[in-house]
Order: sequence, then C-alpha cells, then structure tokens
Amino acid sequence: MCGIVGYIGGEQAAPILLEGLSRLEYRGYDSAGVAVFDGQTGSLAVRKAKGRLQVLSDQLHGGADLDSTAGVGHTRWATHGAPSDVNSHPQVSRSGKIAVVHNGIIENYAELKAFLMNQGVSFTSETDTEVVAQLIEYFYDGDLLQAVGRVLHRIQGAYALGILCADCPDQIIAVRKDSPLILGYGEGCNFIASDVTAILRHTRRVGYMEDGELAVLTREGVQCYNHLMQPIEKEIVTVDWEIDAAEKGGYEHFMFKEIMEQPEALRRCLSPRIREGEAVFEDFSLSKDFLQNMRRIYIVACGSSYHVGMVGKYHLERLTRIPVEVALGSEFRYMDPIVDEHTLVIVISQSGETLDTMAALREARRLGGHILSIVNVVGSSIARESDQVLYTWAGPEIAVATTKAYTTQLALLSLLALWLGKRLGTVPEKDCREMVAAFRELPGKMEEVLSHRDDIQYFASQYFNHDSIFFMGRNLDYALGLEGSLKLKEISYIHSEAYASGELKHGTISLIEDGTLVVALGTYGKLFAKAMSNVVEVKSRGASVLALTTYPHQEEMARTADVVMTIPDIHALLLPILGVVPLQLFAYYVALMRGCDIDKPRNLAKSVTVE
Ligand code: G6P
Repeated sequence: MCGIVGYIGGEQAAPILLEGLSRLEYRGYDSAGVAVFDGQTGSLAVRKAKGRLQVLSDQLHGGADLDSTAGVGHTRWATHGAPSDVNSHPQVSRSGKIAVVHNGIIENYAELKAFLMNQGVSFTSETDTEVVAQLIEYFYDGDLLQAVGRVLHRIQGAYALGILCADCPDQIIAVRKDSPLILGYGEGCNFIASDVTAILRHTRRVGYMEDGELAVLTREGVQCYNHLMQPIEKEIVTVDWEIDAAEKGGYEHFMFKEIMEQPEALRRCLSPRIREGEAVFEDFSLSKDFLQNMRRIYIVACGSSYHVGMVGKYHLERLTRIPVEVALGSEFRYMDPIVDEHTLVIVISQSGETLDTMAALREARRLGGHILSIVNVVGSSIARESDQVLYTWAGPEIAVATTKAYTTQLALLSLLALWLGKRLGTVPEKDCREMVAAFRELPGKMEEVLSHRDDIQYFASQYFNHDSIFFMGRNLDYALGLEGSLKLKEISYIHSEAYASGELKHGTISLIEDGTLVVALGTYGKLFAKAMSNVVEVKSRGASVLALTTYPHQEEMARTADVVMTIPDIHALLLPILGVVPLQLFAYYVALMRGCDIDKPRNLAKSVTVE
C-alpha cells in the first residue's frame, strides 16, 4: 500500500527520498512522486510519474535535478482515481503552495470537494488526497499548523499525511490516524516514514505516532501534539533490525531470501521461548482466573495470517478443548461476533497494520475480549492496541508473498496452544515433553527440506505451464493447502483453489479431467489412508498428481501419485510448518519460470491499510 517518506536536514533531499521510497516498494504501488522546497524560487517543486519508481528516478537523475534539503515522497497504490501522473502524490493546492502525501482514504472527500468547488476551487485530479491539500490552502492564513488543525476536524477516514507549505521551508507536518506513520530522529535531520525500513540507513531512533497525533519536523527537532493540539513528549525507541536484513544479500529475490531465512527466523522466534523442556513466555501471561473461565477463542486475521489461524484452530481445539472460531478481519466486525470478557481473541498480523484486522481488534476490544496479538513488526498499530503481544521476531519481510512471517506466526501459535493446554491441564505431561522436543528439531528439519530445493525446481519445470491447479488435503493438510494455493496464485497468476479432500465429490471433481494438476497433501500420518484414497479418486479421473508426504509414506504415495515431494516426519503439531516450505518453493519456481515479478506481484500490496 502507499508509502510515505519525508526528510528535512542538511543534505540533498531528493536522493534520500527516492532511496527511502525504494525501500517501500515492497508494499505495492503503481506510481511515485516527490515534492521539495526549491530554495531558488521559494516555491515547491513537484515531480510525479506513473509506473515504477525507476521511471521517476530516471527523470530526476537519481534526485540530482532537485536542489533542496527538505521534502516528501510517496509511492501510490491507487484507490480513488486510476494510476496516472496526475493522480499520483504529492497532490498540491491550486496555488501550488501546499503539497500533501497521503496513505489511507478520506471517506467524506466527495462532500468536501463539492463544498470547495462551490467556493470556486477547481480540481485537477480524481483523488481524495487533493481535497486535503485544497482544504489546507482554503483555511491557510499564514498559520500552517492552525490550518492543518482545522482540516483535521473536517476530514473523516484513515490517513497518514506528510505536508509541505512553500511559506514554511523549514518544516514538514506529519499527521496520523488509522494509517501507519513513524518519526525518525537523526543528527541535524529528521524523517517521517510509513515504516522503519525506509529510514534504517539514516537512523535507528524512531518514534511511533499514535492516532490523532500531529508532528512538526524541523532540522533541529520534532515537536509532537495530541489530538487537542497540546504539545506532548514522544518516546524514542531504538530499532535493532540490521540493515542487511532488509536487503537482498546476494539473492535474486526477497522471497527466495526469506524462504531460505526460515530456519534462522524460527530459531530466533522459538529459542528464547523454550527452556528446560517447557514452553516459556516471558513476555506474556494469562491470569489463573481468566484461564479457568475462558469459554471461547477467536482468531482474527487476513490473508496468509488467516491461514495460520486455520491451522491454529485444529491445534488449539485439540490441545485445550476450548471452541475456537477463525474469522477473517474483513468479516469479523460485520458478523455480530460472540465475544465477551471470557473470550481470548488472538489477532495475527505480520505487518501489524492491516486495516481490516485492526478494525476487528477494536470491535473485539469493544465487546470486552482479551486481545493477544501475534505480530512481526515491533511497535506497529496492532501490537500497540493489544492487551498483550507476542512478537515473531522474523526480521523484516519485504516480498509481498509472506513466507518467514507465516512460519514463525504458526510456530508461535502452536507453542501457545501447547502452553495453554499445559496450563489448562488438557495435555498430558509426556505429550508436552514430546511436543517441546519436536520444536527443538524444527529448524534443523526445515534446513533439510530446503536442501532439496532443486527437486522442487525440477517439479516446477514440469508443471509451470498449467493454467489451473487444485490443492487438496484433509484437516491440517487442508489448512496447508489453503496457503499453498494462495502462494501460487499470488505470484504466478495461475488459477488455483484449495479443497478439503472430502468435499471434492460434492462438486469440484467435475472439474478434474485428463491432465488437470492436483497437488495432493498427505503429510498428516493419522489421515494418510484417506489422503491416499483421494489421490486414487482424482487419478482415476485423469488428474496428474503432485503429492506431498513425509518420508515414512513416500513409497506408498509414489505407487499412485505421478510425483512425490517429501518432508521429514515430525510431531503433527509442527507438520504444516515443514509442509509449507515445498509449497512456497514450488510457487516461487513456477513464478520464476513464468517470468513474473515475484517480489511485487501485480495488484497486490504487502501491507493493506484500506478496507
Ligand atoms: C496482504 C499480504 C499477505 C498478508 C495479508 C495480511 O494481502 O500480501 O501476504 O498475508 O496482507 O497481512 P498481515 O500483515 O496482517 O499479516
């Protein structure tokens, strides 16, 4: 989704803005732009271009063309108005005096636009953002802060804003409501950004803006205000992510790098939480009283995080015997959910900024639920609004298609299920020990799966030309199939669907014909015989079967399936974490062979901050 960067300091701003925007490309965008103060003319210079950031960068010779030490930049993911030069941000007011970059949606923009047009203001773009720039100018009488304050009282919706005014060359104004925006504190310079990766090269000292807050940045410092425009002190936090972690480090794609990083990410996520044969959460606890009276668990998430929840439901119900509902963030708040003070609501989000998930969290909190979030991005909105948070510590994930965030989320949720089962007395001690031992083996076994990646590449070369691929599995393998299928369609644009194997005969089997590719998932030993009979079922209708199973079942599967991918056997609690890796690799290699833009698939965004 849209990305914002702002810089005010002593160096040439445009190259810094372009470099920062390049770090935000992974969020998804369709056009880019920058606005800087032009010291010579005393006005704002605005440059925008549809398409890749490189187009803009080439036009500006890497930023060398714009002589200025302060400005804002933006990558736009179109919502209001098609991707075009004119709809790109920054949007400027009619005199060109005010420039605005915006992430989010101004819900009442049509009404405000009509008002301004009545006052004789003409518009050049179709965007909701232009309304903000025009409205600031409408109220501006020499006091920018006051004009912005008046606008904030009138606009509704979600917004992170970066604002420049030609009359105030020594400041940038930043505003945040329901869309992420952070402040970066440098030496003689300061920054705003949608996320920390954009400014990590310049500073690790950041401040997280809260909803309703406004900040005035100068070269010397940052003054923050609350929604009542009262000055406030902002806590400065030091980010410990390594810059290398947000770069490709020799790999062709971020996605591949992140797939390969998974064993290490799992170690980081799990090692501090497993001690002396026990799951230990230093950063989290639930009172005895809450545990005893817990009636229901809700898991709320979107996309792949939702698929983590689908696996989590099986684990949590098995280990705690408490009913678990899994809900999509986008559905939750419209379904009148049954949540009260005896409900644990587990919110899962890599970015911690997904708007639908955030809205679900707020609804759950309003209803009295206890909110525990599983989040990767430290200090993100979801993390901050939860009662408690468990961080996955997967490191920055840049590729739009999630991999290491998915596996660490799943590892953490599985460990949580075990921890809860133990607290509730629903898991025998011996089983607990076995499961903890399995967690210790997980990173090593995943390394083994990754070492066979050439086999998966070969299988991908056999099948990358298919235009429709089905995934099927039961129970844990069904949940695994949902993620495998999503990965494939996200990055390769092949139509793909995942089915619970038992449902095939209720409709989908009519789509199976000679040569249809079915990815049959049979990793869950307990249901292997059932998985086999479904493979026979689709084979007898002419399907080609690419199967996934564990070493002990490889031979049997190979008697019927065309091709078999294998993973080491491990406790069922952790099977989907190993099982997803060949599916990630399969999707990756298929997309590679089809020449797709793997890290930035069309129409998709890494962090979806609109409804
Ligand atoms: C986007 C991403 C997905 C992700 C989903 C939820 O659609 O492309 O990879 O699973 O958002 O994101 P979250 O950050 O909340 O996990």
